[in-house]
Amino acid sequence: MKPVVDQDLCIGCGVCPSVAPSMFDMNDDGKAYAIVDEVPAGEEDLAEEAVESCPVAAITVE
Ligand code: F3S
Repeated sequence: MKPVVDQDLCIGCGVCPSVAPSMFDMNDDGKAYAIVDEVPAGEEDLAEEAVESCPVAAITVE
């Protein structure tokens, strides 16, 4: 499973790197991006929590 942040939707609230720092970070534009190509083993629930925590639904796990 690959975590993806839609850069057009992200408003830079910073919740996802706070919820799942192993998967997300903020870039120089103040938007979040996925730092991994695959959700780390055993962190599927955390990925789902990040998806549900984003206020603008910018995160998907494909
Ligand atoms: Fe952006 Fe949503 Fe993360 S607004 S910073 S993708 S929680």
